[in-house]
Amino acid sequence: MILLQWEKINVCVQKWMKQARKIILEGRTEGLCVEEKTSRCDLVTNVDKFIEKFYVDRIRETFPNSKILGEEGEADKDLDDFKGLLWIIDPIDGTMNFVKQHDHFASMIAVCENGIEKLGYILDVTEDELYWGGPECGVFCNDQKVAPPKNLPLEEGLFGVGGKMLLSNYRNVQSAAKKSLGVRIYGSSGIEFIHVLTGKNVSYLSHLHPWDYAAGKILAETLGLVVKTIDEESLDMLSSSDVLVATKNAHQGIIKLMNS
Ligand code: IPD
Ligand code: CA
Ligand code: CA
Repeated sequence: MILLQWEKINVCVQKWMKQARKIILEGRTEGLCVEEKTSRCDLVTNVDKFIEKFYVDRIRETFPNSKILGEEGEADKDLDDFKGLLWIIDPIDGTMNFVKQHDHFASMIAVCENGIEKLGYILDVTEDELYWGGPECGVFCNDQKVAPPKNLPLEEGLFGVGGKMLLSNYRNVQSAAKKSLGVRIYGSSGIEFIHVLTGKNVSYLSHLHPWDYAAGKILAETLGLVVKTIDEESLDMLSSSDVLVATKNAHQGIIKLMNS
């Protein structure tokens, strides 16, 4: 059951994401303006910036006392007291895929209140699949309830991992990769989270910023998955860190291999 304020938030976010999807798909065909951020592999487009502003304007208009943390520059100053409504936004997750492949990218929003994680939204834009929900209502894909995935061990599942981490063998991650049934690298943390939520992969590991993992964390924990650092520390939604989302069994297997 979602209470009244949360019902309103949920209806608004779903409406905004539907509108955002249309703008993103139109933007894809209209000639993108692409810029490099920290490196030639870290891109931002006019559409990323437009969509972040689109969400922020609507949030400020509808829920004026909100605090917002957005990837493309929108950040309130007093974020760390965790008071009130906090929105964490990744307008387009997987911008490289958006630019080069035109699919396999997501749009994500997470909402917390007084430090409590409430609702997460991951929209697979080209598939038109919105994964949404939270601890009070469960997880849905559009209007279908998503069942918790099977608690498979690492050796019985596929392992999603960030490419850089795998190539540099960060903390011996290759040993975990070898124990799995195979490695998958999708280039969008939102899409990676969806694969773990739906049981297609048993885990995903990467170094992530809050906007990359906030929505996925809320959805994954609601389904009984574990979301922690490799050192088994909790994530506070405002820090960048290595992030492991996995079934309980796969989590144990990966932690053991990466900490030995
Ligand atoms: C990136 C993607 C990618 C992950 C990077 C993120 P962006 O997000 O999620 O899969 O490996 O760490 O920065 O920059 O495309 O929103
Ligand atoms: Ca992004
Ligand atoms: Ca991202």
